[in-house]
Amino acid sequence: MVSTHPTGVQHSGSQYLPQRHDTSANSSPNQELLPLTARVHHHDLLEIGGCDVTTLVEQFGSPLYILDEETLRSACQQYRDAFKQYYKGESQVLYASKAWNCLAVCAIAASEGMGIDVVSGGELYTALQAGVSPDKIYLHGNNKSREELVLAINSGVTIVADNWYELRTLVEIAQPAQPIRIMLRLTPGIECHTHEYIRTGHLDSKFGFDPNDLDEVFTFVSQQPALNCVGVHAHIGSQIFERQPHQDLAAVMVQWLRDATKYGLNITELNVGGGLGIKYTESDDPPSIEEWVKAICEVIQEACVAENLPLPKLLSEPGRSLIATACVTAYTVGSSKVVPEIRTYVAVDGGMSDNPRPITYQSVYRAVVANKMSFPLTQTVTIAGKHCESGDILIKNALLPKTESGDILVVMGTGAYNYSMASNYNRLPRPAAVIVANGEANLILQRETYQDLIRQDRLPERLKNSH
Ligand code: LLP
Repeated sequence: MVSTHPTGVQHSGSQYLPQRHDTSANSSPNQELLPLTARVHHHDLLEIGGCDVTTLVEQFGSPLYILDEETLRSACQQYRDAFKQYYKGESQVLYASKAWNCLAVCAIAASEGMGIDVVSGGELYTALQAGVSPDKIYLHGNNKSREELVLAINSGVTIVADNWYELRTLVEIAQPAQPIRIMLRLTPGIECHTHEYIRTGHLDSKFGFDPNDLDEVFTFVSQQPALNCVGVHAHIGSQIFERQPHQDLAAVMVQWLRDATKYGLNITELNVGGGLGIKYTESDDPPSIEEWVKAICEVIQEACVAENLPLPKLLSEPGRSLIATACVTAYTVGSSKVVPEIRTYVAVDGGMSDNPRPITYQSVYRAVVANKMSFPLTQTVTIAGKHCESGDILIKNALLPKTESGDILVVMGTGAYNYSMASNYNRLPRPAAVIVANGEANLILQRETYQDLIRQDRLPERLKNSH
């Protein structure tokens, strides 16, 4: 069976190459499947960032995360430029580093003028070590520990207060002479269509203050000299394609700004969170970065005019749409198994430990074979991981050329929530990650070794030689 397009054109892996030559579309990286620098060279070989993917695997091992610097920087620039173009006030984009928090990614985001959103002491520590300026770091979390709060206060970052427990702890820790810069996270009560686990804006969410408590929260904060409340924050969910929920959110948030003035609070920052989706498959059709930013800016500006409010500093915190498309994961094909009349399993040397999204959210991915980019797509197979778990399936119904062991399978769109959610399940060492640009590849995360795997293990004396 050769996969044939209705026009009669045969399909190959090349169909997934970036479309950005279509400038009329004003497209952004989140609307592509492969990174912007992806090309086919020598007829069949996939190149990213000027580097041949199969050579990268030979050099750095398999599996391998390959991060394209140009795609990441381009997404950062598009956010920055869009806010500059569509927002008349001050703005700041924060990279939601939970998508992929490591030194190199934080450093690139910061060099593109992004602030950084962190959600734990570990992410905060990494951002600080990467040299990110504390005044551009915002700490989130629905259950920050006292240690995390102290680290944040001592580092001078802004704390996004999530609940009463946290506000009271902050008041206990605070030195009135040095007020703590905080924002308030509120739950806006906005529904959006995305996976239940990544929806956060509906009222039944573990995050943020209930908007019905607004009066009490604003009253409390306005009476605490040790708390310098500068803004309000909300985040409604992730992998969202509609623009309306964020527009509704923007309108609700301007009402919060208006309400805050009644309590004498000088709230000058408004953070609409992240959530713009990306294209994981050909049928996904997310708006561009520019379209998303424009939609939000328009609502905020109109609502501020209607309420006669000065424009707040507008913050947003995209994660996935900044980094997901910039990265692919290269695996080596190993065994395969044909179950007659049912399916063919093709197994790779990674799986749910390096990409837990399919088993967690039933996420759908697409793949190409890096050494067979122009081969016709002749088979539909199931890409299995190597974990001892039947559910460890990376892709159901992947349309691929005929594969053999040793082929390099490249799964696209793995920059967000892959490495950051990776585990050592079955004691698999986490893969290495390289950044590629202009034909050069640099290691940004070293491959774990077996020694790394037992680094935290302790064998009590009495268990030694006990057998
Ligand atoms: N801000 C806050 C407060 C968030 O909780 C999140 C994501 C973001 C920003 C960034 O959202 P993004 O632009 O990436 O959609 N592990 C899940 C996604 C969890 C999202 C958590 N919060 C996944 O793999 O789909």
